[in-house]
Amino acid sequence: MASSTTHARSAATGPLSRAGWSVCRLALPIRKTLGGKLSHTPLDRPVVRLVRRAMRIDLHGGSLGELAVDVLAIPVFENELVHSWAFREVDAALGGLLGKTLADEGFDGASEKTATLHVPAHIAAGRVVVVGLGPAKSFRPADARLLGASAARVAGRAAAKRVGVALPDTPARPEALVEAAAAGLELGAYRYDTYRTEAAKDAPRRASIVLPSGSARDRKSARAGIERGALIARCVNEARDLVNGPANEITPTRLADYARALAREHGLGVEVLDRKKCEKLGMGLFLAVARGARETPRFIHLTYAPKGRKAKRSVALVGKGITFDSGGLSLKTAKQMEDMKTDMAGGAAVLACMAAIARLRPPIRVHAICAATENMPSGDAYRPGDVFRSMTGRSVEVLNTDAEGRLTLADALGYAVRQKPDEIIELSTLTGACMVALGRYTAGLMSRDDALAARLLAAAHEAGEDFWRLPLVERLSEDLRSEVADCKNIGSGYGGAISAGHFLVPFAKDVPFAHCDIAGPASAERAWGVHPKGATGIGVMTLVEYVTRTLPADA
Ligand code: BES
Ligand code: ZN
Ligand code: ZN
Repeated sequence: MASSTTHARSAATGPLSRAGWSVCRLALPIRKTLGGKLSHTPLDRPVVRLVRRAMRIDLHGGSLGELAVDVLAIPVFENELVHSWAFREVDAALGGLLGKTLADEGFDGASEKTATLHVPAHIAAGRVVVVGLGPAKSFRPADARLLGASAARVAGRAAAKRVGVALPDTPARPEALVEAAAAGLELGAYRYDTYRTEAAKDAPRRASIVLPSGSARDRKSARAGIERGALIARCVNEARDLVNGPANEITPTRLADYARALAREHGLGVEVLDRKKCEKLGMGLFLAVARGARETPRFIHLTYAPKGRKAKRSVALVGKGITFDSGGLSLKTAKQMEDMKTDMAGGAAVLACMAAIARLRPPIRVHAICAATENMPSGDAYRPGDVFRSMTGRSVEVLNTDAEGRLTLADALGYAVRQKPDEIIELSTLTGACMVALGRYTAGLMSRDDALAARLLAAAHEAGEDFWRLPLVERLSEDLRSEVADCKNIGSGYGGAISAGHFLVPFAKDVPFAHCDIAGPASAERAWGVHPKGATGIGVMTLVEYVTRTLPADA
């Protein structure tokens, strides 16, 4: 099952379309990075797959009944079973058995509900999974991801190789549906099994997507849709790998290695600053957080520049990169620490999305910036009461060393401003307060710039990720006043997500700035939507949508 490094390299360098329109290829440098040199690994038997194989995805032209797959996913809208063309076709072939089974089970097509039926005869598919898409009137193309993901998940459990996905009959553009289905297939096939000694069941290898009979079928744009969907989903899966990766493996150095590998594969600019260089730049806040850690910090900067033409606009993406957050001297409890390897989810998202951006070649200059370090207690650790100066010159009184993300981000923002971007978008697992406010499925967006906020919310909506704007209530910024420095790093405790937002704002100076708190949706307590338990890769799809579609249309 494990592919060789050679495979990795050929998959990486081949042009997206070389091997035929049904194949999507994307380098997976993290697999190589992890597989290549597990130098100081404490695990005595590291089990590492070098490359996760890309699924072969094609468009099926024939009838549904003839589609020879192990698992066939078919869509139904809520309380509209009989209006689903796929349902009608399969039900007719089965002599009404499908409808009867669904009625017996009380299946109504509510969103994310599925029903699986083994089919011994009459159609070529081995089993059918009926996927509820919720009410037809609220359907968005991104919802079709659920179809691909359900097919891949059912197939994965059964170790089945071939899957089929029937798309719903809606006014949406066919290529948008095809793109979503392809993304769903890759997202649903994802498993984090790098360290499982016992080989997990194989993920499905081949998939066919079927458009409603009679719908306009432009092969070229369908192919582009498949490639785009699978490409972006594989970036999400890379971000998931980084976030699921344990903190003893995914260190700041490893994150930097990943960024360098991305740069090599995709022709991006890369710069990695060590402690000394950060000192020279005056990153007093980032280095204060890094002081207590044995692991050396890394400040990571990737750049994508459009080739042969002038960039229409420049955007800096900044991600929080705390590879483990113990809280520092303001130590967390054991329970609070359990999931703190995920405290670099923002950094993982801004780095991983660069592979898709490089391939999709928008006319926009893009910086991905991540100040990576652990937050640890030690004799060298920074203390509550300490005062440090940021790269921008602003001084900060640290009253809680567990509010470390905003400190590292402050210097990352200072560095981003120096790149002279037209705007800065920052993603971070910043506050427990944001999870309290919005729950585990929704990211909190804060910005003083209404136009930027509106653009980002629109991109998130298109990308099918849930972002909700929180107000930067002016009076709450008063909580950050310090007697001894320009500000302190914690507020009063009330409105904690917003005080964190306020803390960041001055560091972006006069550059339009949006802060996205992804503490809730960065990882899932249990599987939901297209996500398995664990890392979700939140942000990648929104950022790619924003940079490749929202901005180019707007600029
Ligand atoms: N990384 C945490 C935020 C977090 C908590 C993310 C739970 C995901 C799940 C952050 O560094 C932190 O500890 N924030 C503190 C801030 C407080 C000390 C002002 C928090 O939210 O409690
Ligand atoms: Zn913290
Ligand atoms: Zn943190």
